[in-house]
Parts: sequence; structure tokens; C-alpha cells
Amino acid sequence: MCRDKEWVQKSLVTGRVAGQERLTGDVYRIRIQGDFLEDFSREVKPGQFVNVYMKDRSTLLPRPVSICRIQSGQLELVYRVVGKGTREMAGYHRGDAIRLSSPLGNGFDLSCCQSGSALLVGGGVGIPPLLQLAGELNNRGIRSMAVLGFQREPFLIQEMEKICDKVLVATEDGSFGFAGNVVQLIEKEGQEKGLAADQVFSCGPKPMLKALADLCRERELPLQVSLEERMGCGYGACVGCAVDIKQDGKIQRKAVCKDGPVFLAEEVFWHAE
Ligand code: FES
Repeated sequence: MCRDKEWVQKSLVTGRVAGQERLTGDVYRIRIQGDFLEDFSREVKPGQFVNVYMKDRSTLLPRPVSICRIQSGQLELVYRVVGKGTREMAGYHRGDAIRLSSPLGNGFDLSCCQSGSALLVGGGVGIPPLLQLAGELNNRGIRSMAVLGFQREPFLIQEMEKICDKVLVATEDGSFGFAGNVVQLIEKEGQEKGLAADQVFSCGPKPMLKALADLCRERELPLQVSLEERMGCGYGACVGCAVDIKQDGKIQRKAVCKDGPVFLAEEVFWHAE
């Protein structure tokens, strides 16, 4: 997997909020426009994120948010309100200025995908970056199927259905689609219809990624995971997002924000939760 070893803090840009909507519960989609998007569109890789800087100076650290997609001259970010910073973001209105970094992190490695099919597995707010990934795979002529998991109310289903060959949905409470988690749904689908994929990509909570990594190991399917570690600085300075990664025969501490967020599942040291 290619990794950019040289990391530098990239530029900050200021955009304008083009719109904001609540997708469900505490999950929002904000659309941002600005001249910077021309550069973003050229550079961005699926799975990268931006740091959003708050207006409230008491919120010192930026909030890292995955890039959902760039479409119709707008950057779309989907986020869950979890604290002061994201609560401020949820209050932004059309026309408000918003300051953010250029795309950060390594993103998914698509060099392994020259043909064939891909399985995209997402959970909760791990799903938004898979939308851009599905679009990029589609542009390369790679067919994709998505398996998406939610605690209860789903979001971004229609957007995924427009791009993927097939979208399966699981909710933990059974209120929509399959009752259970994504790994159970993949196993069920595999037993009934067979499940073929040349590459699996995933983003979501760690227990989901760990269970998926076990399944992919059993089935000898290559899996890339985007880790959703809680971040502090978002720039590799605070070690707040460090994870254990097995490389060169030893376990090394790596920063999800700087060295990731995407890793090969077989390299991640999955501690028991
Ligand atoms: Fe600070 Fe990654 S969030 S090092």
C-alpha cells in the first residue's frame, strides 16, 4: 500500500456554506463552495478528510471530518454532532464563512483496483467517505456493492444506490433492512447468493472493522480499513490518535491522522475491545 511518508501541514482555505441539512437524528450534511475546490478536485483521494476550524476561539482544536464527495462545485461533509465544535458547525447557515484545511491523510489505495469488483462496507458516519470512493471506482469501470450499517435511521442510501450495483442495509434495531450488523448481513448474503469481490474497503467503528477483518481473513479477501480514531490536533502533533500497526515484523505506533486513516486490515493490531 502506498503511503506518503513525507507529511506537511497543508494550506488553509476559507469557503462559504452553500447549504446545510439534517440527514437524521444528529447527523448533518454541510455543503461548502469556494475557489479552492478546483484544487481540491484535482488532489483529493477517497478516504481523505479535512480539518474544520471553529469560529469559537475557545475550541482550539479543529474537527476532522471525512470528505463525503465533491459534486456540482460543492464540497459535501457529513458529520455527527458529538461536541462543542460539531454543534457550532450544525449552526452554520448558507453564506457563512467556514475555514478548513486542504485534504489530509492517505486515503484508500486504488492502485490495486484495475478491474473486477469491490465490496464497500460502512457503519454510521463511516459511510460518507464511501460515497466518493464508489464514484471513483465507478469512473474506473469497477463495479461495487455496498453493505451499510446503522444503529437505526439510515442516511445516504439513495446516493449510494445511484452509484453502486447493489446496496444492502442493516440496522441494529431492525427498523430498516436486515436486523443485525453488517458482518452478519454479509455472511447471510454470502450463504444465499455467494459474495465475490476482488477488494474490500471499509470505514466505521472499530468493533465492526475488527469483525470484518476476521471475516476477510477467513475468506482471503484483501481489506483496507479507514480507522475512525478520535482525533485531537488532526495534524500528527498530539499522538491522541495513535494506533498499533504491524510493520516490518514489529508493532509500531502510528498516527491515524498522519499515517492513515487508511491501513491494510492485516497490519492493524486489533486489541480486544
Ligand atoms: Fe493529533 Fe493525530 S490527532 S496526532
